[in-house]
Amino acid sequence: MALPLQTERLILRPYTETDIAELLPLVGTREVAATTLRIAHPYTEQDAKSFLALAKDADKIWLAITLRTNCRQVGGIGMRVDQEHKHAELGYWLGKPYWGKGYATEASREMIRYGFEDLGLHRIFATHFKHNPASGRVLKKVGMRYEGCQREHLVKWGEFVDSEMYGLLRQEWEVGE
Ligand SMILES: CC(C)(COP(=O)(O)OP(=O)(O)OC[C@H]1O[C@@H](n2cnc3c(N)ncnc32)[C@H](O)[C@@H]1OP(=O)(O)O)[C@@H](O)C(=O)NCCC(=O)NCCS
Repeated sequence: MALPLQTERLILRPYTETDIAELLPLVGTREVAATTLRIAHPYTEQDAKSFLALAKDADKIWLAITLRTNCRQVGGIGMRVDQEHKHAELGYWLGKPYWGKGYATEASREMIRYGFEDLGLHRIFATHFKHNPASGRVLKKVGMRYEGCQREHLVKWGEFVDSEMYGLLRQEWEVGE
């Protein structure tokens, strides 16, 4: 299936410049930045423009998560693809008003299907900060296996933080499906 991707409640579609006004207040909260590695805080219009430019790279797929009912943006989801190794890193965020509704899980399931079925990937992986158990729960719900903890692997806002690793192989996903 070509982009955009659809799930029961969501449409995952490429960003356009006109998305910036709706994107800024959603991605710009401290709560969203606190548990992500690459989302700046404060998050400026220039940050959004740089992100949209980066999202055009062939090996990066960043899609707006939008609601089927009203087309509103609720978050973002992406994969950084490494063609040589046929693997990709999955990442996602939801605006705070939309947490706890299963959207990250629903969007991730579809991105994983897209990665294996449409892009022919062999492995999809993801990491989260130890202080973000909700993301670990999402990764488990979509069938990823826990692969270990990289202790104090990253610096976030001046502190060393543990990075928890999860991964899913194509053959495991096929059995799960
Ligand atoms: C992490 C995040 C993406 C989750 O999105 P979401 O749409 O709320 O996730 P879902 O509703 O699909 O699933 C969340 C699960 O985590 C669970 N959860 C929430 N808070 C939790 C906590 N403190 N500890 C353990 N589990 C928690 C929920 O109960 C739910 O599991 P359940 O369905 O078994 O009840 C969202 O909180 C977010 O965008 N945070 C900021 C950005 C971010 O951290 N991105 C990920 C970087 S790795």
